[in-house]
Amino acid sequence: MLRVEWLVRGRPREGLLVALRDPSQLTSLLEELLLSHYELIHLLVDEEALLPLPPYCAVNAHSILYFWHLDQLHLLEPNHQVDVELHEEWNSTVEEQLRRVQKQSWGFYIPPRAGDHLVLLAKLNGEVVGSAYFNVNNANLDYGVHVVRSHWRKRIGTRFFYEAAQQAKARGFSCFSVVRVLRRVDGTSSDRRALSFYRANNPSVRLKVLRLVLKP
Ligand SMILES: CC(C)(COP(=O)(O)OP(=O)(O)OC[C@H]1O[C@@H](n2cnc3c(N)ncnc32)[C@H](O)[C@@H]1OP(=O)(O)O)[C@@H](O)C(=O)NCCC(=O)NCCS
Repeated sequence: MLRVEWLVRGRPREGLLVALRDPSQLTSLLEELLLSHYELIHLLVDEEALLPLPPYCAVNAHSILYFWHLDQLHLLEPNHQVDVELHEEWNSTVEEQLRRVQKQSWGFYIPPRAGDHLVLLAKLNGEVVGSAYFNVNNANLDYGVHVVRSHWRKRIGTRFFYEAAQQAKARGFSCFSVVRVLRRVDGTSSDRRALSFYRANNPSVRLKVLRLVLKP
């Protein structure tokens, strides 16, 4: 259990991050936590766990956190035709390519962060078709994997997992990970697509992260 401070709409709020091994302990744990007046509780639990939520509590945000252990990799066969460029630093041309990929994958653009990200750019016959940001500080693929819609289902996304595994190994990590913040608690069609893709590549550990709130 970790006590943390979150910024919610610019205002710091105290919260708790709780990793729960035994879901049946949730109710008693919540009663203790709620009595201590925590405003925000984030619960980290096995993705398949069924959670008996008490009636005064609701889930108002849902994410997934998947890990791939390098000694237990069971990835799908990747696309070998694409070339994957690595950029520790990037210029406006690379940024423009990233913007184009993300606009054609999930519709908006999040730029890479210097100091955190190694940019991976996939090219097919010279055309930029995919991107990912490998976080060199924690081996997470920040903001997930992106492939231009017209090139979906060619195992280009899968290729980024191979590249992430290589980067993680070269940098002394034992695993790499990915997070997806679901757009709706029960998941949209694009959430389901992304999760199907991640699960098809056999993550070693699958966790869900639930934000719990008190019902008025
Ligand atoms: C998710 C995404 C990266 C997948 O890229 P991709 O190159 O099409 O994926 P791959 O071809 O490597 O797929 C590997 C496997 O994942 C599964 N998969 C991929 N897309 C799927 C879909 N739309 N529905 C169901 N399963 C899917 C399949 O099992 C697939 O293997 P198969 O084609 O042999 O059946 C791509 O759809 C995308 O860019 N989506 C929008 C951006 C996004 O939401 N990214 C995740 C951010 S967290």
